[in-house]
Amino acid sequence: MPSSETSSSHLEGIKKRGFYLDDIYQHVKSDAVKDLKIVEDGKHLQVTWEDGHVSRFYSMWLRHNCHCGACLPHTSTVLVDFTKLDENIKITSAKMEGDEVIVVGWTGENAEEKTHEGPILTKFLRYHDYSDAADKQRRQQRAMPFYEDKIIPALEYNDVLNSDETLYKWLNALSEQGICLIKNVPLNKEDMLKAAERIAQVQHTIYGSTFEVETSPDPVPENAAHTRIGLDLHMDQIHYESPPGLQLLHCVKFDECIKGGENFFVDMHEVATKFKEEEPEAFYALTRIPSTANTVDYKRARPAHVRIQRPLITVNHKDEIVSVLWQPMLIAPLQVPEKDVEIFYKAYKKFYSLVKTYQSMYVHRLRPGDMISFNNRRVSHGRRAYTANGHRLLQGCYINASEFQSKVQMFHNKYGGGRWPVRNGSIDWQ
Ligand SMILES: [Fe+2]
Ligand SMILES: [Zn+2]
Repeated sequence: MPSSETSSSHLEGIKKRGFYLDDIYQHVKSDAVKDLKIVEDGKHLQVTWEDGHVSRFYSMWLRHNCHCGACLPHTSTVLVDFTKLDENIKITSAKMEGDEVIVVGWTGENAEEKTHEGPILTKFLRYHDYSDAADKQRRQQRAMPFYEDKIIPALEYNDVLNSDETLYKWLNALSEQGICLIKNVPLNKEDMLKAAERIAQVQHTIYGSTFEVETSPDPVPENAAHTRIGLDLHMDQIHYESPPGLQLLHCVKFDECIKGGENFFVDMHEVATKFKEEEPEAFYALTRIPSTANTVDYKRARPAHVRIQRPLITVNHKDEIVSVLWQPMLIAPLQVPEKDVEIFYKAYKKFYSLVKTYQSMYVHRLRPGDMISFNNRRVSHGRRAYTANGHRLLQGCYINASEFQSKVQMFHNKYGGGRWPVRNGSIDWQ
């Protein structure tokens, strides 16, 4: 099926359909093509760029990404039907059309689609280049930096609300370091939400759209957070398929007379990286054997039976740590093959011990007006026990991990040279 646009209008057609992504492509350097070569009997297109870099694109990969109006209509949906394609599809032609478009032709013998021709943007190819060198560069940008000095960056609430520059500082702190303090937040829920919404709409959970943390008069409260006891390091809501990305915890009241109650934070990806180095066998056991996290409570105001089974640590196909989940208080009975039970518990105890004795942490006693924000998928938080005198009230909300990453990427495109965001601890393998 030939493309419906005439060859001279390919670039125009791509722009009209909204696939010339200026926000991204403005940062693509060296997309000028020096040489095009069809190699291995049409299996790959080899592109030599002006800067000397060489990329190779597999025939089916290119066919999948054809930019013609039939394959990529303005609905932003890839409409390439693979059932109609020959799996041994060959590239038969590749020609430059102006400086920015390569028109590629394909043939396939043993399938419904015998030939196809369509344009592909050079900027698209350079941006999506999957060569080892390009992949390495992206992964370097994605790697989490770990800081020896555990100093919490701080910003002013009014600046976060009114200046995009400060918002970018906030996003950067959360992305690079995983934690940031916002000062002088007015002592009400609406103003806390205004700050949250600078990043994204809040993520609802079984606790609603916001939550409060204060000592409950109930002798057996629904949640350990509503007591005065110390809380061990944990991430919130790991029993969700998508545990909250960011957590915002805003201090409304914290009387000076109260002793204790400080919050502390540990970078779990830093801990997991050390665990991998020191206890590789236990580390890989936790990546392989799934544990179950749940909240089962039929008596609460909003009854809940949420559960999920998956490993506490996930590595990607490059053996990079992409996700760490940590909330011992939500761990349900282990249900794995009998041979794995002992292996799991030995590994779990080792990791638990490393987390609990980890020295490098952020510590902060919140004052009224302070709002601590942190990446709940990267940084675990805890609380020291506090005395019964006085009043301590925190309120909080969550932001979804994907929406956080989306905002960081858009701001990097606008102000950060288009770099890729640091990995945010979600399951994203890239
Ligand atoms: Fe918590
Ligand atoms: Zn096409």
